[in-house]
Amino acid sequence: MTDLDGRSFLFILGSSRTGGNAETLAREAALQLPPGVTQRWLRLRDLPLAPFEDHRHPRGYAYPEPSGSEGLLLRATVQATDLVIVSPLYWYSVSADTKLYLDYWSAWLHLPGVAFRSRMVGRTLWAITVTSHEETDKADPLVGTLRSSAEFMGMRWGGALIGHGNRPGDIRADADALTRAKTFFTDCAGMGAECLTGNVES
Ligand SMILES: Cc1cc2nc3c(=O)[nH]c(=O)nc-3n(C[C@H](O)[C@H](O)[C@H](O)COP(=O)(O)O)c2cc1C
Repeated sequence: MTDLDGRSFLFILGSSRTGGNAETLAREAALQLPPGVTQRWLRLRDLPLAPFEDHRHPRGYAYPEPSGSEGLLLRATVQATDLVIVSPLYWYSVSADTKLYLDYWSAWLHLPGVAFRSRMVGRTLWAITVTSHEETDKADPLVGTLRSSAEFMGMRWGGALIGHGNRPGDIRADADALTRAKTFFTDCAGMGAECLTGNVES
């Protein structure tokens, strides 16, 4: 029995290409999840969302019930105990597809009958990213975006797993990241904000 038993992990794939480095690193990490953990993988590129529109002000906008890709993403998000954002580093932050998904959280907070915030409180948000830069701190804006978003939502911060590579498959040469992937979820479960598993020497 581990801290993770019975939890349900949702992996949100944010790359604009399939079979990329971030997904490869995430699948390495997921291999180590105990059998009692359920996994669901969703590729944002397969679930297109319309450009986000901010209808918060003035109050009174009648938010339509989310359908299609949005409805699927909303249901998957609230059903997961653990949300793993798997995004390559794009311009020092999350990819545009990932950012758009996060923008929709803002609308979901206002949906009547969903109680999005209270359902997300206490869930865990994790980050897995790959950068072409060899310096791990280049991913600080991405980590900050996700960690602060978790804090805003009352979620736990699981930690960030950061690898390095550029062309598809490069991550296979980052032995350090692949090693850290093996214990990412188990070591970081419960460690919270202090768990950053990038190679700080590089
Ligand atoms: C639009 C775009 C922006 C990028 N910006 C950065 C960046 O700011 N820093 C960085 O280290 N790498 C950057 N990269 C490189 C990717 O992070 C790198 O190729 C990564 O391995 C891609 O992951 P993927 O294979 O999972 O898509 C960028 C790539 C693209 C396509």
